[in-house]
Amino acid sequence: MDHFALVDGVMHCEGVSLERIAADVGSPVYVYSAATFTRHAEVFRDGLAGVKRKHIAYAIKANPNLAVLRLLANAGYGADVVSGGELARAIAAGIPASDIVFSGVGKTVGELTKALDVGLGQFNLELEEEGVVLAALAAAGGKVADAVLRVNPDVDAGTHAKISTGKAENKFGVPISEARAIFDRLAGLPGLNLRGVAIHIGSQLADLAPLEAAYRRIGQLVQELRGAGHAISHVDLGGGLGVPYKAGDVFPSPAAYGAMVARVTDGWDATLMFEPGRVIAGNAGVLLTKVIWVKPGVTTPYVIVDAAMNDLARPAMYDAWHDFAAVRPTGDRMTANIAGPVCESGDTFAMGRDIDAVKSGDLAIFRTAGAYGATMASTYNSRALVPEVLVSGDRYAVVADRIQPETILAAERLPEWLTA
Ligand code: LLP
Repeated sequence: MDHFALVDGVMHCEGVSLERIAADVGSPVYVYSAATFTRHAEVFRDGLAGVKRKHIAYAIKANPNLAVLRLLANAGYGADVVSGGELARAIAAGIPASDIVFSGVGKTVGELTKALDVGLGQFNLELEEEGVVLAALAAAGGKVADAVLRVNPDVDAGTHAKISTGKAENKFGVPISEARAIFDRLAGLPGLNLRGVAIHIGSQLADLAPLEAAYRRIGQLVQELRGAGHAISHVDLGGGLGVPYKAGDVFPSPAAYGAMVARVTDGWDATLMFEPGRVIAGNAGVLLTKVIWVKPGVTTPYVIVDAAMNDLARPAMYDAWHDFAAVRPTGDRMTANIAGPVCESGDTFAMGRDIDAVKSGDLAIFRTAGAYGATMASTYNSRALVPEVLVSGDRYAVVADRIQPETILAAERLPEWLTA
């Protein structure tokens, strides 16, 4: 459920008309619903009611806007971060360092040091050497780093290849067959409290079966590690729950996911950790855009909008579908291709799609753009960096400015030897 709906024939986000936002802020612009974020946070937590000891760390890569992070901090969520930049954001948003988990296959010594300095809650180790380096850094500073070992369970998550992470050939985690030996070697190191294991098999998962298979494998590993004398107090089950992008698609609910988790982990006697991203943010945002032209095509017209692949990369990167809807629909329909102004054929949001009829100057939205939207934006073709607006009830605020090409140009330099 989200809070984007027609009110008196005009698309609103909660109590604010998208026409008003476009008039005030311009387009393209991301528009987020605070009530949807908060509701998703509650629904996900409620779904896990059957799990006694849990920690939910929002995967901030999905939508790291400061205001969004504050909303989720207020809802009691911790954070899963994957870079020093994300760590700084989470802290700036008021998320206690002790509630932050640091994932990521390429954490640098600088990032590990910074995380130790702020008192990070948990390091999710991706390889043995990282554990050795972290232990040494922590011991040198008189600290003990809480950590878990990320394991690659070799499970096919059944999602797009570019967002699948739990197959043996993926770069993430240590092979499950080697986990025990690595654990044995790392567990005794001074400076390191290796307290558990982690997995994350992929994103936009449409089916609970691969997750269940992965969780069962990690459950066996926990037993094996305990049998070898290791104290396992934490198991991080990652994120990955998918959301419907197409009207009518049905995905497993947080409640169904939570019931599966409770069933599979019954008797594990560990704190379970979760890293949801998309399921919290996906349907909480849209990308608001304006039609520049409707250009006749050989067979199908092109609706050229002012949003492009630099603003919303998912269709170009993953052939992802985002529903398109007019802000003031007339009831008429058309079949069209939808594309942006960027000079690549890949800058296409949809081909041959049945959509609300639109004409030059009309406003429209791409739905389900709250996750992996603005955060993946670039300034390709020297376009502005897309701004973000947060709506709450009948008020809204610009929570990220449009960064103009001039500002980016101002950060560039001509070396002296080129200007002589
Ligand atoms: N935990 C870890 C370790 C992850 O790598 C990810 C996502 C998550 C949690 C959150 O997964 P979620 O609950 O959002 O599925 N840009 C792609 C998605 C990349 C996901 C990367 N990792 C897209 O637009 O579909």
